[in-house]
Amino acid sequence: MPAGTCTAVVGLQWGDEGKGKAVDLLAAEHDAVVRYNGGANAGHSVVVGGTRYALHLVPSGILYPGKLAVIGNGVVIDPEKLLEELAALESRGVDVSGVVVSDRAHVVGPYHKDEDELREGVLREAAGHSGGEIGTTKRGIGPAYADKAQRSTAIRVGDLLHGGDLRRKLALVCEFKNRQLAGFRPVEAPPYHPETLLALMGGWGERLRPRVRDTTYLLHDMLASGKRLLFEGANATLLDVDHGTYPFVTASSCAVLGVGPGTGVSERHIGQVLGVMKAYTTRVGRGPMPTELHDATAERIRQRGREFGTTTGRPRRVGWLDLVAARYSAMVSGVTGVVLTLLDVLEGLDEVRVCTGYRVDGSVTDRFIPDGYRLERAEPVWRSFPGFHGDISGVRRRSELPGSARSYLDFIEGSMGVPLRQIGVGPGREQTIRS
Ligand code: GDP
Ligand code: IMO
Ligand code: MG
Repeated sequence: MPAGTCTAVVGLQWGDEGKGKAVDLLAAEHDAVVRYNGGANAGHSVVVGGTRYALHLVPSGILYPGKLAVIGNGVVIDPEKLLEELAALESRGVDVSGVVVSDRAHVVGPYHKDEDELREGVLREAAGHSGGEIGTTKRGIGPAYADKAQRSTAIRVGDLLHGGDLRRKLALVCEFKNRQLAGFRPVEAPPYHPETLLALMGGWGERLRPRVRDTTYLLHDMLASGKRLLFEGANATLLDVDHGTYPFVTASSCAVLGVGPGTGVSERHIGQVLGVMKAYTTRVGRGPMPTELHDATAERIRQRGREFGTTTGRPRRVGWLDLVAARYSAMVSGVTGVVLTLLDVLEGLDEVRVCTGYRVDGSVTDRFIPDGYRLERAEPVWRSFPGFHGDISGVRRRSELPGSARSYLDFIEGSMGVPLRQIGVGPGREQTIRS
């Protein structure tokens, strides 16, 4: 295969940019959709033919019948959630035969979810002095990636298929987890027991067995026969463990840089990197967000944009578009084009703003500050645009948008330095302006 025919889709903000919809649309032109990071913390809402589907671990290409949907080695899999999700999709008539799972993806166990919840509780109690929780989704993501780095207490999907290995590993897991969490768990909580976990996790293995593959070879075989892959980033660049607003981030590599380690496929195969961003900004959980609003405009956007988490149902924090942050994310992932979503949500406002710089300690910078505490000091420098009026959800050409909406888009495009490839004017697959 000639280099560079694959595509990657990544979020440029703090998640929920509408990556699921963008991936669903692009899946038609690719042979497989591949997840490379994150876990059941992700929540992607995709609307097809008026029906809304919520996806967490299953790649968003699954709504095209027969499409291969690969969960790569970089993902942490909660098999209970995955099996539930597959059953729910099947019960709605979705063909899930194309879902395959890497034998090297790490498993989120019940003890990871307990630890996630317990850690957040301790951080909350410590808020009075130095702490404060991260506001995680409590899906066990951080503890599972920590065990991956720790190695001795990690369980991979392949281990679930081998009873002897699993028994041996679970004995060690219980040894560590019972001691580590003893001081945090309620006294009445029973200790983790290897045989109980073996029955649960071995059962997951049996149900997943037909889907488990060496996905690295699978993907390379596809590339060798000229197939096109679509890499789907979960979470988003500002939540990336290295490049985001640490420590208010998730635990994986969400930028396009995570594709290599998370799939075993070199970035050399990617020709097009699409960065997805909303026409405004949202964030779930704690951490800095320089353009956050706390007024009636925020509430209006929240209601019109259905800005409530797909995974946890939490109301999302809302603010104006932060171009300093979006440009930084686009730089980190080397994006070649932007997917701008939810433009329709801004309809009816008299004024729309974007942040073009930060004022920090008396001077102005156009550089992002990828640190969860130092970014708190940034004050936005605003640029204001007249709002636009009239329903745009039926518009399919950029030239047919109201003039003030076009000026807003032109400014964003100029500032990002790459073309706007898709503009979202509604949640439906077809409610998209493409160029
Ligand atoms: P993801 O996590 O990046 O896949 O995004 P989510 O699915 O969590 O959140 C995006 C939300 O916006 C979902 O409810 C989508 O259905 C919706 N959505 C995506 N694009 C558009 C759009 O252009 N307009 C409107 N009104 N909704 C959209
Ligand atoms: P999608 O794929 C929005 C946020 C959480 C929390 C922080 C850490 O739907 O865009 P974690 O449970 O990962 O340890 O939580 O990261 N977060 C997301 N916010 N969308 C997501 O995914 C997110 N995944 C993680 O709210 O602040
Ligand atoms: Mg989401």
